[in-house]
Amino acid sequence: KKILILNGPNLNLLGKREPTIYGNRSFVDYLKTIEAQFPDVQLHYFQSNHEGELIDKIHEHGFDFDGIVINAGAYTHTSIAIADALGAVTTPAVEVHISNVHARESYRHHSYLSPKCKGVIVGLGLTGYELAVRYLISDE
Ligand code: DQA
Repeated sequence: KKILILNGPNLNLLGKREPTIYGNRSFVDYLKTIEAQFPDVQLHYFQSNHEGELIDKIHEHGFDFDGIVINAGAYTHTSIAIADALGAVTTPAVEVHISNVHARESYRHHSYLSPKCKGVIVGLGLTGYELAVRYLISDE
């Protein structure tokens, strides 16, 4: 199976960025853990700080992949364009947030993406990504 993991703005700084909120592990390091857990799954990882590049990736893989795991960072709370892209493709998506956005500032409580996703995982740290992959490769 093929799964796209998509990280949005500032998530390239994971490990260095506000470690009390986001932890001190880099995503590239964490990716090795997920790859080891799912040896039969082709995991494609893409990170961008640019909205249009995230949209291009959704278009590129959104018709033939088995799932998209998306943490769009702050674009979650602002981007109708990313929501439209998720709505345009056929591949199911799961939205992930490392922090519990509902325990934070009120502007993080609303997501434009959630209605276009099968489900949402928030506040479980990096583990949220593996749970999302597990769901997307299952036949549920
Ligand atoms: C985040 C939460 C967002 O509100 C924030 O803008 C991020 C990271 C998370 O994973 O907890 O960049 O998506």
